[in-house]
Amino acid sequence: MKRSLSGIKPTGTPHLGNYLGMIGPAISLQKTHETFYFIANYHALTSVRDAKALRLDTLSVAAQFLAFGLDPSNGAFYRQSDVPQVTELSWVLSCMTSMGDLTRAHAYKAAKDRGEEGAINLGVFSYPVLMASDIILFDSDVVPVGQDQVQHIEMARGMAQRFNHYFGETLKEPVELVQSSVAVVPGIDGRKMSKSYNNGIEPLAATKELKKQVMAIVTDSKGLEDKKDPETCNIVNLYKFFASPEELESMKSSYRAGGYGYGHAKLALLEKIESRFSPAREKYNDFMKRPDDLEDILKDGSKKARKVAEGVLDRTLKACGIR
Ligand code: ADP
Ligand code: TRP
Repeated sequence: MKRSLSGIKPTGTPHLGNYLGMIGPAISLQKTHETFYFIANYHALTSVRDAKALRLDTLSVAAQFLAFGLDPSNGAFYRQSDVPQVTELSWVLSCMTSMGDLTRAHAYKAAKDRGEEGAINLGVFSYPVLMASDIILFDSDVVPVGQDQVQHIEMARGMAQRFNHYFGETLKEPVELVQSSVAVVPGIDGRKMSKSYNNGIEPLAATKELKKQVMAIVTDSKGLEDKKDPETCNIVNLYKFFASPEELESMKSSYRAGGYGYGHAKLALLEKIESRFSPAREKYNDFMKRPDDLEDILKDGSKKARKVAEGVLDRTLKACGIR
């Protein structure tokens, strides 16, 4: 069976972009793939400076994956730091990576454009190398991610290719898998939904909070009676992910006809999100009351992951003359 691998950083509550772009598609792959999914806590350390929050968010992300339906027995579900081979292989791969390539990576480039290149830490700069290690260490076939991560998978492929070129066919070259119908989920202000823009809708938030987020979706100032353009509306652009084609069409024609307010559309969207995610929310809340069980699941997953990791690392170190 082919192996799918992906990771998510524990940096706050996942939003609809994370769910539709990565978590949902990744979980669906468990029907056809062995799934290796992990919580990228070392990656989070490039920005998080609050130990308590990092610990809590790590468990919270684990609970969310399980609540959304991940079956941990279908592969391995683990915490990145519980597999120390990741940082070991990362060194080997860093020796296969040019500074030039790393300066073209998105996060570094963005920091440079802000004039902050001297202030970012080495972890941000070498982020793609650690990520390549996460992937290559498990002989991963496919990596389900959102569009913004594709560059990192391409870089990982490059590192595997370079290693293989120097030391002979050793590392599997991974391929990204992007849910093309989703690509980029817009946030409540129309920009890409992102934790860093604080423009998210969090599907597992309590009803009151969720309502607040949906009601805060930015629209133009047209009144109830006015005719509206559905194609440029943030509400419609989110509604389309949850509605049937008929429901979407019906909302669009109400927009064009007038007499249908943005408040109505927001409530229709809220209802969709509520009905889709309320069972998962219940499961999530239940898991968060049982942190010891979450720990057990992650520990069990890391045992399985380490077994695979040891084999690939051994093969790699032998191939390049270290072992
Ligand atoms: P954020 O931008 O909120 O910090 P992350 O970088 O932690 O999100 O992304 C986690 C995963 O979710 C990645 O695979 C990423 O591609 C995906 N993702 C994040 N935001 C979106 C979005 N708005 N649309 C689609 N996928 C997204
Ligand atoms: N960089 C990814 C993100 O920000 C998280 C991540 C870390 C990852 N390692 C990975 C994703 C390996 C896929 C495969 O979303």
